[in-house]
Amino acid sequence: MSGGACQGLPISLPKTHGQPLWLLAELTYKCPLQCPYCSNPKDFAGFNDNELSTQEWVRVFEEGRKLGAVQLGFSGGEPLVRQDLDVLIREARQMGYYTNLITSGVGLNERKVESFREAGLDHIQVSFQASDETVNNMLAGSAKAFQQKLKMAREVKAQGYPMVLNFVTHRHNIDQIDRIIELCIELEADYVELATCQYYGWAFENRQQLMPTRAQLERAERITNEYRAKLAAQGHPIKLIFVTPDYYEERPKACMNGWGQVFLTVTPDGQALPCHSARMLPIEFPNVRDMSLQQIWDESPGFNHFRGDDWMQEPCRSCDEKDKDFGGCHCQAYMLTGDATNADPVCSKSEHHGLILNARAEAELPATEPLLFRNERNSRVFYKG
Ligand code: FES
Repeated sequence: MSGGACQGLPISLPKTHGQPLWLLAELTYKCPLQCPYCSNPKDFAGFNDNELSTQEWVRVFEEGRKLGAVQLGFSGGEPLVRQDLDVLIREARQMGYYTNLITSGVGLNERKVESFREAGLDHIQVSFQASDETVNNMLAGSAKAFQQKLKMAREVKAQGYPMVLNFVTHRHNIDQIDRIIELCIELEADYVELATCQYYGWAFENRQQLMPTRAQLERAERITNEYRAKLAAQGHPIKLIFVTPDYYEERPKACMNGWGQVFLTVTPDGQALPCHSARMLPIEFPNVRDMSLQQIWDESPGFNHFRGDDWMQEPCRSCDEKDKDFGGCHCQAYMLTGDATNADPVCSKSEHHGLILNARAEAELPATEPLLFRNERNSRVFYKG
């Protein structure tokens, strides 16, 4: 990788940092769907033959518990691709984790939901691409995905789980927000995340084709608020969570609640990262095959890289909000400016904020390129191994 001053930074000694409360196990990058907004690395195909074994994952979970992790997410790719998922759930549950499965529902069936429930899985989140079958299947790259998701969402509920649905919204589906919410009501969803696409991985590649206009976004938020008020007045239990994209903000998000503060993710091939996108940064990250999670969390240069504020340049260094947003998202700074130590360009104080303004202006125009779907073949274009 090129650009970025990260590699040359002096590494500070470990500073005050918390425990990795939230451990995310990206069990595999393999997935039967091809969502063009997937946050997985663009070159994921290069890692598919080197996945951690069942025993290696179990050791990682044990080390995570010792470090204080309480919540364990099974994610991917599509975690259902792993044939040992029920074993991993059972082991994690016995260690005392609160466990959740983040899935597309493709590959799920009644028997699997039952076996996960018996293994102790606490929570299942099913993602949809749209409320419209044609749009859903077009985005998923599968003609059967929508019906399968409906069936599995109902099955999850029938087996006693709270129904948690996730819709990633973008310019192709955000105008159907009312129909999305109606579908969630029909499915008796308990929690719905209406998450506007964030631009990492494949979504960054497809940003021009995905980013909604400001008018689209404001309309969607207004309609969501109207539904919230109407449903609350009816005493309806559904919770609608609307996540706005930071490209329409003037201050950056406190990404991951601070680098190396509460979140630790492990990739399918064992790389430990402070956020799901950090693999792209010009920083050396440790692998769970080479050292313990405790060494990784407390001592590794990768995890200490952006702890504290020694790394900061202006305008972050003298900013009175630096303890609130920690300079924003380093991955976003790197993707947009080539230097992860820059302030996140979402911040209006950043000298690179014009890049965000340009993206907003671009969102007002029709897309000129087709969507690039996330699949093995397209990934090989990025994977040069
Ligand atoms: Fe990596 Fe924000 S996603 S720091």
